[in-house]
Amino acid sequence: MSNNWKKNFSATALKSRPSPVRELLKVIGQPGMISFAGGMPAPEVFPIEQFAEGAEQLKSNGTVLLQYGTTEGYNPLREFLAKWTAPRLGREVSLDEIFLTTGSQQALDLFAWAMLDPGDVVITEDPSYMAALNTFGNHGAEFASVRVDGKGMIVEELPALIENLKKAGKKPKFIYTIVNFQNPAGSTMSVERRQELAAIAERYELTVFEDDPYGYVRFDGEHLPSIFSFDKAGNTVYAGSFSKILSPGVRIGWVSGAKEIIRQMIVFKQTTDLCSSPITQVLTHEYCRKGYLDAHLPNIIANYRAKRDAMEKSFQKHLAPLGITWVKPEGGFFFWLNTGAIDSDELAKRALDKKVAILPGAPFCVDPEAGIHSSRINYTYSKPEVIEEGVSRLAQAIEEMKLPAK
Ligand SMILES: Cc1ncc(COP(=O)(O)O)c(C=O)c1O
Repeated sequence: MSNNWKKNFSATALKSRPSPVRELLKVIGQPGMISFAGGMPAPEVFPIEQFAEGAEQLKSNGTVLLQYGTTEGYNPLREFLAKWTAPRLGREVSLDEIFLTTGSQQALDLFAWAMLDPGDVVITEDPSYMAALNTFGNHGAEFASVRVDGKGMIVEELPALIENLKKAGKKPKFIYTIVNFQNPAGSTMSVERRQELAAIAERYELTVFEDDPYGYVRFDGEHLPSIFSFDKAGNTVYAGSFSKILSPGVRIGWVSGAKEIIRQMIVFKQTTDLCSSPITQVLTHEYCRKGYLDAHLPNIIANYRAKRDAMEKSFQKHLAPLGITWVKPEGGFFFWLNTGAIDSDELAKRALDKKVAILPGAPFCVDPEAGIHSSRINYTYSKPEVIEEGVSRLAQAIEEMKLPAK
């Protein structure tokens, strides 16, 4: 006898769709495949020795590490982060304005629990981080979007969008933005736009979710002040992550914001997972306390900068002559290629035949039109010589698409 599971699935489950990207990622393990598709850190930059030193805590402090922790997270790590992020946030937040999450992915979900009723509108960038769109979608969000250019979200278009939504009886709840080295577009929001966004949020009594997992991975120029630092009204929630600056395996993110929203998100975390793993929180704190976070970050940045440069050199050699354009990211993990007249979905398929995996733009977009002629290319994971080979294969796929069909 088999259970008809679907008959009893929730409406949300019935609406959910497996990510087209996951399907694509299944073939990535094939021999000879070069992957520019994922968003993974390079294994060679994991600080294994320094991180392993913290394991000594298992013996000296095992009763804490092996016990349930508090939902808010390990206090010494919260205290460290409150100080460490102060230059970016414009001030040191108090302990009740910061808590730890199981990756910043969980922060997105907890924020959605706190803010969204089905039918509420979330304003996002177009393109945006696919797993954030899917999370908000799980909570019944509808989306309105603003395009991204070389200076991040085109914030100047927000007031008209918000007014139009209100006229249509829609309720915009919050604006979701990835300010630094955006995933997938690679662009960084200008300081003027950050200021303007904080002002717009105040004027329209909207909140802002400032997602910044890549912000400390900057190759060129100076760090920019966060939207949080311009927000005097307390409308902004800032989320950070250890995934790109230490390891995604520790699954630790953090959220800073007004006490009320932090408290509410913690209440939902209580029912989501009780607490994040005390083991990884204590080991991560040890790593930070000993100064390894600051000491090792330049190594990560140097590794990724060299790969970004290697990829751009290969783009210039192989893709520029084919009319493909891009904006050079000042940090982070991705190039966002403008493939001109070429359909990026078809290109991703043709590239796979050549054993190079890239992601098409459409699944990152609220408005699918915004992504048809764009592709996301990751440079952090592959070695520079592999990058050159992968880009040359990509160029072959494009050349074949440009040939008239037989
Ligand atoms: C923009 C953005 N936000 C959030 C996340 C989630 O990261 P994590 O849960 O590993 O902190 C990612 C992961 O790649 C991301 O790109």
